Amino acid sequence: MELITNVTEYEKLAKEKLPKMVYDYYASGAEDQWTLKENREAFSRILFRPRILIDVSHIDMATNILGFNISMPIMIAPSAMQKMAHPEGELATARAAASAGTIMTLSSWSTSSVEEVNSVGPGIRFFQLYVYKDRNIVRQLVKRAEMAGFKAIALTVDTPRLGRREADIKNRFTLPPHLVLKNFEDLDLGTMDKTNDSGLASYVAGQVDRTLSWKDVKWLQTITSLPILVKGVVTAEDTRLAIEHGAAGIIVSNHGARQLDYVPATISCLEEVVREAKGRLPVFLDGGVRRGTDVFKALALGASGVFIGRPVLFSLAVDGEAGVRKVLQMLRDELELTMALSGCTSLREITRAHVITDGDRIGRSRL
Ligand code: FNR
Repeated sequence: MELITNVTEYEKLAKEKLPKMVYDYYASGAEDQWTLKENREAFSRILFRPRILIDVSHIDMATNILGFNISMPIMIAPSAMQKMAHPEGELATARAAASAGTIMTLSSWSTSSVEEVNSVGPGIRFFQLYVYKDRNIVRQLVKRAEMAGFKAIALTVDTPRLGRREADIKNRFTLPPHLVLKNFEDLDLGTMDKTNDSGLASYVAGQVDRTLSWKDVKWLQTITSLPILVKGVVTAEDTRLAIEHGAAGIIVSNHGARQLDYVPATISCLEEVVREAKGRLPVFLDGGVRRGTDVFKALALGASGVFIGRPVLFSLAVDGEAGVRKVLQMLRDELELTMALSGCTSLREITRAHVITDGDRIGRSRL
């Protein structure tokens, strides 16, 4: 096999290896997939203003997230059904994250349970929550995640209904019969019916609570003492509400462009959220992060860290745990190099002045 030199190369290899239904589910965005493309392209419009002649012989990428020390500001986003990619699924991802010294977020819809993931050994892990109509299910699941040592809840707020992913509809996507949504197995909610369109869309319509609102963010705090990250904020208005309702952090996310098409790229929404947050809580970003330069750009615009989604799935499909380790290592090495070439020796030294955005250019041309 030719040497893999960047994260994006895994996608092509995964496409060759995975069944079409699985690859399409992992890769797709919603509808015209405009936001999917834009999540990447918006990064390419941000350019650097590097500083020179700074001693960069030592670069420190360590950081602290919600009180937990991790090796770098690059973490793993929750993505569902990882055993479709590789027989070890989420367990391999958890091992790779732990060995890289970073955080993994486990999806509610994982094909390994919270207890199984805990059993791989030490590691800092967050649990992503989908709120079901039956709140007893939510109570039980959150308790189980706490007992299994998860350190925070990432509450996904952009999915009252599933976005329209047309490849899944054409493929009549469903979870392969040898797999289950392991956290829901004992509740008889671990399987997905084969339907005439997307089996997942039907599952969401049946189980996920469309009435979810800000008062439920408060309710969640009555059933858990874990910090709550609100995942899916893209505006200043919702940043304000998240703070008012006790969020411990915000994840600027458009669900990997799988929900509402024609929302801006997450990197284009980041500054608005950061400005409103005013340092009162950490702001994270996911969506289209494929290079160390992307990570640097997000940090320069005020993110405390980033999460990666698809690169984990594609590398897992190609090479299991080793693939995910390699993705994390490549992004780490690229971030380190970007910092060195920009004259930053620690994350604190990365500032707004190190990048130039479309907005800056328009501002300047008016001067
Ligand atoms: C996701 N994402 C997601 N988010 C979530 O809150 N719960 C979930 O179960 C899933 N599942 C899921 C499956 C697949 C196949 C993808 C691609 C994404 C969204 C995910 O957490 C994250 O927001 C994006 O994946 C980030 O964008 P990139 O890195 O994939 O571009």
